[in-house]
Amino acid sequence: MAEKKKFQAIKGTRDLLPPETELWNRVEQTARKVFGTFGYGEIRPPIFEPTELFARSIGVDTDVVSKEMYSFPDPFDLGDIYAQYQLRESTTPGAGQLATIAGLLPDSQLIAARPEATASVCRAYIEHGMHALPQPVKLYYMGPMFRRERPQKGRYRQFYQIGAEVLEMVPPNQDPAKNIGKDAAVDAEVIEMVMAFFARLGLEGVKLEINSIGDRDCRPKYVELLRAELLKVKDKLGPDSQRRIETNPLRVLDSKLESEQGIIARLPKIADHLCANCAAQYTEVKRQLNMRGVAYAENWRLVRGLDYYMRTTFEITALGLGSQNAVCGGGRYDGLVELLGGPPTKGIGFAIGEDRLILSLQEAGKGGAAQGRDVFVAWMGEKTQATAIAAAQKLRAAGLRVELPPVEQKFGKALGQADKLGARYALILGDDEVATGQWTVKTLADGSQTKMSEAEFLEMLRKGL
Ligand code: HAM
Repeated sequence: MAEKKKFQAIKGTRDLLPPETELWNRVEQTARKVFGTFGYGEIRPPIFEPTELFARSIGVDTDVVSKEMYSFPDPFDLGDIYAQYQLRESTTPGAGQLATIAGLLPDSQLIAARPEATASVCRAYIEHGMHALPQPVKLYYMGPMFRRERPQKGRYRQFYQIGAEVLEMVPPNQDPAKNIGKDAAVDAEVIEMVMAFFARLGLEGVKLEINSIGDRDCRPKYVELLRAELLKVKDKLGPDSQRRIETNPLRVLDSKLESEQGIIARLPKIADHLCANCAAQYTEVKRQLNMRGVAYAENWRLVRGLDYYMRTTFEITALGLGSQNAVCGGGRYDGLVELLGGPPTKGIGFAIGEDRLILSLQEAGKGGAAQGRDVFVAWMGEKTQATAIAAAQKLRAAGLRVELPPVEQKFGKALGQADKLGARYALILGDDEVATGQWTVKTLADGSQTKMSEAEFLEMLRKGL
């Protein structure tokens, strides 16, 4: 006999089950509604993409690309390599040789489970020539993302994001300084939209932090200054920060290490080193947020972990999330579409961690209870089943949640089950009811019982909906 094996969800992944999935659906429906009012349309990009797309967009030195991405050779491509090897060497490659061959595959032959979707949206913008559509193009998405992080509360290897992106091709010969006010208004509206979404859900303890991380002009100079200052205090820093002095000094500002906080506080601040255009845009973003009634705090240490950002960056935290408290992150990424082979294009967007959003809503008691049934059809007697089926069909067509037992049940058992399922009414159908056309309706909350026609029952339920 085959060994009985118990399968379990892979580490860092989980099943989302009812009644919790009702909350997930409510959140997603609300996102669709709110984003729709801002003129966004939905995009559904594929879940896997070329590894190179993410490497080039997010940056090869970022944690996401260098440590966390599920990137692998397409097994079917491996099949081709296997066949080529056989042909060339006239022998079959062993497992070790195959692994070596796979390991030597260039990034261009690898595919990855998407760790985020901004890169996919930019790829789609180019692939479908969306620069020819009326600009800006405003898109939202929702779905699973994959990062091989250490799982903990609010951090999973398969997690869900709800995100939005605004893309706008830059007309040829446009003076970059000319549109700073417009870009700032776009940034502020994107932030306003996510805040409106959170408000609609009743999310509690929402805190928005903003920053500007400069552009290709001023950021490299600031990074060099930061590196020079960090080198002076190198031996006081932990191993992660020491490494980052070389790879990405900005990420040192992200450090949560207690011993480094005092040192970081004395480092030069980017706000004091922005070029005139970046400074003007940052000032205008703040004015725009004020005008829209969006409260924010400035955080000069907010640098974000992905390479494509420039100028405006932001993060939002919410109640009850512990150490993984960022429920949304986003920012501007002018130039990313161009980097991926498209025309010069401006971009700004955000992604919400839906798992964390749900956790926060639940912590605040906004999870909502499981929705019970509206009607439990308790039918007795073989001849009654046809009437019970017809009744259930009508009630369901009217949008009611109906439970129809597949076999007849004794009266007591039927009522017990109706109660367990949280039904509002039990529709009791026996020979008598079928003969007279007068149904017995029991209200489970108070135990009262009345007779009424099918039409009267439907009318009563419709009013109560
Ligand atoms: P991100 O900051 O990497 O940005 O992720 C956005 C949000 O996704 C985080 O704030 C967090 O709520 C959630 N998240 C990330 N990793 C995990 C995880 N392992 N488990 C649970 N939740 C997680 C981006 O992904 C950018 N693409 C956002 C963006 C869009 N920027 C511009 N447009």
